[in-house]
Amino acid sequence: RVLVLDFGSQTAQLIARRVREQHVYCEIVRHDITAARLRELDPVGIILSGGPNSVYAPGAPQCDPELFELGVPVLGICYGMQLACKALGGEVTSCPSREYGRSHCDVVDDADLMADVPASTEVWMSHGDQVTAIAEDFSPLAKTKTCPFAAVRHKRLPIYGLQFHPEVTHTVAGKTILGNFVKHVCKASGAWRLGDFAEETINKVRETVGSSRVICGLSGGVDSAVVAALLYRAIGPQLSCILVDNGLLRKDEAAAVIDEFSRHFKTDLHVVRAEDEFLNVLAGVSDPQEKRRRIGKTFIDCFKAEALKIDDARFLAQGTLYPDVIESGAAVDGPADTIKLHHNVGGLPAELGFELIEPLRDLFKDEVRQLGLQLGLPPEIVWRHPFPGPGLAVRCLGEVTREKLAVLREADAIVVGEIQAEGLYRATSQSFAVLLPVQSVGVMGDSRTYENTVAVRSVNTDDFMTADWSHLPHELLSRISTRIINEVQGVNRVVYDISSKPPATIEWE
Ligand code: XMP
Repeated sequence: RVLVLDFGSQTAQLIARRVREQHVYCEIVRHDITAARLRELDPVGIILSGGPNSVYAPGAPQCDPELFELGVPVLGICYGMQLACKALGGEVTSCPSREYGRSHCDVVDDADLMADVPASTEVWMSHGDQVTAIAEDFSPLAKTKTCPFAAVRHKRLPIYGLQFHPEVTHTVAGKTILGNFVKHVCKASGAWRLGDFAEETINKVRETVGSSRVICGLSGGVDSAVVAALLYRAIGPQLSCILVDNGLLRKDEAAAVIDEFSRHFKTDLHVVRAEDEFLNVLAGVSDPQEKRRRIGKTFIDCFKAEALKIDDARFLAQGTLYPDVIESGAAVDGPADTIKLHHNVGGLPAELGFELIEPLRDLFKDEVRQLGLQLGLPPEIVWRHPFPGPGLAVRCLGEVTREKLAVLREADAIVVGEIQAEGLYRATSQSFAVLLPVQSVGVMGDSRTYENTVAVRSVNTDDFMTADWSHLPHELLSRISTRIINEVQGVNRVVYDISSKPPATIEWE
């Protein structure tokens, strides 16, 4: 495997995904991992990620300098390159102005790392400092107008540096460069396959579970569906699933999940109809975090009550993914800081008394999707946009009521339906309607109306940590607007949300 040392980069996960796309297993570890520990883990290659700091700033994250002596190939990216060059005798200085965005890069040495990269190619830069002098042991591989050492290598040791970011798609030859590093420099076999992962996981689950019963929560989302499919393959009839219908699901969603489930799995499904309970605890609450807390607690109560009815259940399966593991700081040798505490309300507490199985905890979302397809799940499930645990409650701004939910459901079904009909569902990452607590004046026929506003939100993103609003065709937006105003009672105005994340978030609450 390849290890990525994370220096606080926004793109450490992206680097790991790109390496895995080369069929080489890759994990993210703390930047201050010791050389001794690295020796134990025995990676075929080490990547030093970028980071927000200057290598000279007090307290700037460092790496164990002995890692350069392990004989393991090292690739420093941006901050990682500056660290490596500085540690080995080079000089780093701050640029007159921060360089951010696309740059043209000329290859000056097309040996190993830069093999098959066009002589002039577009790269993505994002840095305030850069390497301004390299030690004698180093030689340049590429340069840009403002950056004489856009790519460098050590003359004797397998140590490389890139000032630009090969992991982002804007770096046109990024995939080739990372491929050269893992395949040619690290000599990784490229034999890691998701199919093997499925088989191994299925065997592991069988071993762990024996003849006990396993409970799996279903949400309608792809992660829980893939967990259920894996477990079903592993232990068939020993699987029991629980779907909590919290009354905050999208139009016809609970029925669709039940229908799909019974088509794919011949095993036990418990549906908890809890709409009234959820709406009761939400009555009068408009603070988003309070809504989340109440929904989370009610979910756990409902789930627990149902789980306790299932005899001999010993295990609980959850669709925790690798980003959740990293972000919660729970990964072995994981990054130093908890980057973001996710407000996931699907998580169930340990006090439920079950042993946890998390078969997806080593995978990224796109890998989960591929695995879902391999396991025979239909594309409608596999490519479904993510939906937050608190459901429509965080898209119904202010107090949640049955009536508002009904309006929101209809509007949302139109948004998603039209985007699907335009063939753009897969091209967008998450698309939905939000019901605003704003009323405005309109005219319908000859009369004045004073009704609600619906905001349409559609974003494109790789990782849901940053996102751009989707540049949907105007005709499509126009159809969505006309249909919502004509077909959804109580709405007389539709607006399109054109904010990116950051500074906005994807959800409105
Ligand atoms: P934000 O709004 O933070 O959302 O940009 C990022 C992603 O997380 C989802 N999200 C949630 N998922 N429980 C969840 O399970 C939540 O409370 C929650 N809030 C946001 C959101 O839909 C998006 O995919």
